[in-house]
Amino acid sequence: MSAAVASVLVEPVPELVGHVEVPGDKSISHRAVLIGAICDGETRISGFGRSADTEATIAAVRSLGVDVDEHGAETLRVFGRGLRGLCAPGRSIDCANAGTLVRLLAGILAGQQGEEFELTGDESLSRRPMARIAEPLQRMGALLETTDGHLPLRIVGRPLGGIDYALPVASAQVKSAVLLAGLYAGGETTVVEPVPTRDHTERLLQAAGASVTVRPTSVTVRPAGRLALGEVEIPGDFSSAAPFVVAATLVPGSELHVHGVNLNPRRTGLLEILERMGARITIYNRRSIGGEPGGDLEVQSATLVGTTVGAGEVPLAIDELPLFALAAACARGQSTLRGAEELRAKETDRIDATVDALRSLGVRARARDDGFAITGVPARLRGGRIASCGDHRIAMLGAIAGLASREGVRTEGADAVSVSFPGFFEMVDRLRRSTRAQHRWIE
Ligand code: S3P
Repeated sequence: MSAAVASVLVEPVPELVGHVEVPGDKSISHRAVLIGAICDGETRISGFGRSADTEATIAAVRSLGVDVDEHGAETLRVFGRGLRGLCAPGRSIDCANAGTLVRLLAGILAGQQGEEFELTGDESLSRRPMARIAEPLQRMGALLETTDGHLPLRIVGRPLGGIDYALPVASAQVKSAVLLAGLYAGGETTVVEPVPTRDHTERLLQAAGASVTVRPTSVTVRPAGRLALGEVEIPGDFSSAAPFVVAATLVPGSELHVHGVNLNPRRTGLLEILERMGARITIYNRRSIGGEPGGDLEVQSATLVGTTVGAGEVPLAIDELPLFALAAACARGQSTLRGAEELRAKETDRIDATVDALRSLGVRARARDDGFAITGVPARLRGGRIASCGDHRIAMLGAIAGLASREGVRTEGADAVSVSFPGFFEMVDRLRRSTRAQHRWIE
């Protein structure tokens, strides 16, 4: 089985037993490189989550004149050019599939006075909404033009002013774009959130010496003189651990440990949801990893009952909602997701893609405008064939469904996993061969 193969069959597994470590957090990896690029001097990053998305970020900052030394897969040295030192590359910057890259970088580039930039992306990123960042950045005085609300994005850096901005959608990417532009603005910039979203930008900016005030529902940043990050240690990505957490929950007789995971409460909504459904997940060795709450997880299989997930929980589990659907398919009774229309603006329409995938595996699932409704059966799924729709999270959903199925699941377009987790199928494969007798350590 190889991630380079576009069609992958994952066969059922009798039990999942062992220890795994997942790659570094993708959201923090993007931010460490981007903020490192505008620091004074060197930022040393360990535990970097290497993937197609984060490699696009390295390439982007390099094209802006930033030197990045790579030492093996997970260690980087970023030689920052200071807050105002980025140089226009004279050609467009390709943000590939990475929404986090394009939106956060736009906030930084808006403040690079006198320089002109163009940001592009792949077909999927080019379909995703960009007016959501253009609108607040323009209010700050940015000269920023979308193409009918989409990429390409043209930015000319110029003086910015602070704003008070109430986010119309709960989005950490939009919040971060405004906060990063706020580093360059005259006066204070405040972002008010309808519902809390991931706060990695706030944490890294504080670590870099920026003046950031965090309140329960808003964040204020003040203009910065200089930033310096020094060392950044990146914890394992909860979103990459989540497929294995769900797999071990669903496959009877499993006992799986996932080590060194980011357990920032703004990311771990899926744990609360699964626990409500009856999952048996224990957190141990709680510790701080790179300024984020982290720890190890022990997951034992469990029989689940259906639950309802509403708007308040959505941002805390946004990238794991397809996996919630899979857990719901194997739980007793009805499960419902509401207030998640944002899923339609992801790498693909994740409401339709998730519902279509589960239906083709024999699950009773129905899409709603803002979520889905699933009637679960507490037994193994039948199995079958699904399409990833070019979306890494849907490809991982297919693989995990295969492990927990009766007949296996073939995923078309499985190579999409490389967007966030290039070694995903190798890890599935090694875990499948790890038995209770061997109890092997898998990295
Ligand atoms: C991300 C925020 C979320 C998430 C995405 C990564 C980030 O997007 O879905 O995978 O790194 O800030 P939104 O902020 O648009 O919800």
